[in-house]
Amino acid sequence: MKKEHVMLMLCTIVIAIPLVQSVSEGPKAVQTWFKQELPLKKQKVTNLHFYFHDALAGQGRTAYPVFQSNISFTSITGFGLGFMFDNPMTVGPDPLSRRIGRGQGIAGAAALEKPGFLMNLNFIFTQGRFNGSTLQILGTNPIQNQFREMSVVGGTGVFRLAQGIATYRNETSSTIEYDIVVLHY
Ligand SMILES: *[C@@H]1O[C@H](CO)[C@@H](O)[C@H](O)[C@H]1NC(C)=O
Ligand SMILES: *[C@@H]1O[C@H](CO)[C@@H](O)[C@H](O)[C@H]1NC(C)=O
Ligand SMILES: *[C@@H]1O[C@H](CO)[C@@H](O)[C@H](O)[C@H]1NC(C)=O
Repeated sequence: MKKEHVMLMLCTIVIAIPLVQSVSEGPKAVQTWFKQELPLKKQKVTNLHFYFHDALAGQGRTAYPVFQSNISFTSITGFGLGFMFDNPMTVGPDPLSRRIGRGQGIAGAAALEKPGFLMNLNFIFTQGRFNGSTLQILGTNPIQNQFREMSVVGGTGVFRLAQGIATYRNETSSTIEYDIVVLHY
């Protein structure tokens, strides 16, 4: 099993364009991938580490409320309040550090008793060998916990048929550190 790292890959793209595993798109290419390539592939583990910037105010804002329930502003958990976001992913905690993609999705307050969000998002990679590939994330976000965990329920591109676990913690109130371990082919 091979372990890889986003930052490592980012360093190699400059000198190693052929390493970029471009995955052919289109229905025929996907059929070929399943029939001819997949049987020859071994499952591998890739570790990803990056930061995610959730800007709910100010210039460069990336998240906005999109729905609410009629108890969103009276319940202790904000139940039913939902946000849609398109947040940059960077290699470091500094929002100006190198961008590797965007995390786009929805977070909705789904818990009545303790604050907790239903999370549904896509990590869309735009750099290195993962450029053009995506991961689909589904899970809960009990925001009072230091470490939280969500499922990687799938992927596209080099992450076709991916499964994995995303753990994350707040670095600051608007910066989240993500560690993803993903099985893919
Ligand atoms: C919330 O909606 C329900 C049904 O849609 C209604 O019965 C209730 O009166 C509403 N509550 C408030 C505070 O508006
Ligand atoms: C990522 O892929 C897109 C579309 O294939 C391409 O236009 C772009 O140049 C690539 N970016 C990098 C940094 O490889
Ligand atoms: C963690 O980050 C989320 C998302 O930006 C934010 O809503 C929450 O308030 C933060 N929690 C803490 C303890 O900073």
